[in-house]
Amino acid sequence: MMQSTWQSSYTRSLHIAIIMDGSGRWARQRGLPREAGHLAGRWAVERVVEAAPRLGIGTLTLFAFSGDNWSRPASEVRNLMQVFEDYFRGSTNGYPARGIRVSVVGRRDRLAPSLFEAAEEAECVTAGGQALHLRIALDYSGRDAILRAAHRLRNGHPPSAEEFARALADVTNAGESVPDIALLIRPGGEQRLSDFMLWESAYAELVFTDRLWPDFDAADLEAALEDFRRRDRRFGRIAEVAAG
Ligand code: IPE
Ligand code: IPE
Ligand code: MG
Repeated sequence: MMQSTWQSSYTRSLHIAIIMDGSGRWARQRGLPREAGHLAGRWAVERVVEAAPRLGIGTLTLFAFSGDNWSRPASEVRNLMQVFEDYFRGSTNGYPARGIRVSVVGRRDRLAPSLFEAAEEAECVTAGGQALHLRIALDYSGRDAILRAAHRLRNGHPPSAEEFARALADVTNAGESVPDIALLIRPGGEQRLSDFMLWESAYAELVFTDRLWPDFDAADLEAALEDFRRRDRRFGRIAEVAAG
């Protein structure tokens, strides 16, 4: 029973996630500081956000900064936070007209007040968007989210999958639970999750590409989707049953 409820409430829209990796290497290849890679990564965000609605993507979650990324040199962290703030203050201005709704997923208590405000403002002005739900994972850790959701639900009855997903959404300030991730794309050549959406990716199809994030474009997104559509998603069943 749980299986059918779970799936029916999780097929409303296509949820794609991207681990935006490889910006540092992109810069190094050009003899530029890592900061130049992070700056260039912003334009890749714009390319995929522009392409997503016409490719049938309803929810797009982008991994921008992990809980573990705080361990990078302070100067790089500062630069990244500035890139995020500039993005929230700049790029999202045009989103309401395009029906793009922004949510920021992760902890907020460690963000500088100005970034915190810029993120909340972007959420506020884009709240009515219906064409694409764009989720930016910022100071996000999948394990931390699971630990805090479990803590929140302690002493209750064992939660259903939906209840747990809602608790995860609460503790990551996501506002609401979203469909499971159907396709998880990682550019940059690494083949790992790096603590991203551990619960939400339970049955995600994984696409890894050597393309570095600042070079990633609509054609790469389309190619990943084509690959995804050729996959046989069985959810534990056998092919004949899954197809029927
Ligand atoms: C991803 O690119 C951006 C963040 C993790 C914030 P990287 O900065 O990890 O780039 P590489 O992996 O060093 O090339
Ligand atoms: C994952 O990339 C985090 C983001 C892309 C935001 P990392 O570059 O931090 O991951 P590892 O360290 O290679 O696993
Ligand atoms: Mg990296």
